Amino acid sequence: MNATALFEARGLHMRFGDRVVLENVSLAFPEGQLSGIMGPNGAGKTTCFNVLTGRYRPTRGQVLFRGQDITGLSPHRIARLGVSRSFQLLNLFNDFTAEENVLVALPGLRDHGMNMARDVMADRSLRDRAAAVLDRVGLGAKGGIPARQLPYGDRRALEIGVALAADPAVLFLDEPTSGLGADAIGRLAELVRRLKGEVTIVAIEHDMEFLFGLADTIAVIHWGQVIRHGTPDALRADPWVRNSNLGRLK
Ligand SMILES: Nc1ncnc2c1ncn2[C@@H]1O[C@H](COP(=O)(O)OP(=O)(O)OP(=O)(O)O)[C@@H](O)[C@H]1O
Ligand SMILES: [Mg+2]
Repeated sequence: MNATALFEARGLHMRFGDRVVLENVSLAFPEGQLSGIMGPNGAGKTTCFNVLTGRYRPTRGQVLFRGQDITGLSPHRIARLGVSRSFQLLNLFNDFTAEENVLVALPGLRDHGMNMARDVMADRSLRDRAAAVLDRVGLGAKGGIPARQLPYGDRRALEIGVALAADPAVLFLDEPTSGLGADAIGRLAELVRRLKGEVTIVAIEHDMEFLFGLADTIAVIHWGQVIRHGTPDALRADPWVRNSNLGRLK
């Protein structure tokens, strides 16, 4: 596999009982690129993220980050190495403001112990860092709004902000456009385009237009196997992809 990959999966198998969900999945995510993953419902895409980010230990195979074997480490340990993820179903504290959602995700927060709320709100440097993260995801003016009151597109952006708060080297996004209308998808594409280059991104996505416009390479997962891997142009020309009903392609 690509020797310069920042993050790599080698021969991953994942079984739940007698159900094989991932079979010999090998993927390499080069630094600074956006790597896309697509495939039908139930193909094993989220399971693959769960293995890569430590939620599940693979039945076989290896996960490498910066060449280091991280297979079987806890999600917490993997996160602390510089790996963040967003979730297919939003994972925000709805009663907290946008700023508070980012604050609790900042690494320095752990130093504040139990008296968190008061300490943190009085800590200028933490709040400046939260403000910088909110700016980065286009929510600079919305820090004081409770998450539940934000439009869905802003909630998606906020979840990316929460993932970025730890200043990760690699960001895994599970269906970031899910539930969004066309306008919000357009804004999210702008945000992801801005982030590209600053952080290595791996995105699962059903919206082919979104993914093909942003990804450097795309892997197609079907029945737990990587059946295609290539540039958007190569996949656009691929008969299997063209004939599948994975989505609309221009
Ligand atoms: N913890 C689990 N125990 C048993 N089966 C599971 C578990 N997690 C996932 N699966 C099964 O693995 C298969 C792949 O699921 P997964 O969520 O990875 O698909 P996906 O490609 O992300 O689909 P979608 O596009 O709908 O999100 C499904 O059949 C699912 O039911
Ligand atoms: Mg999924």
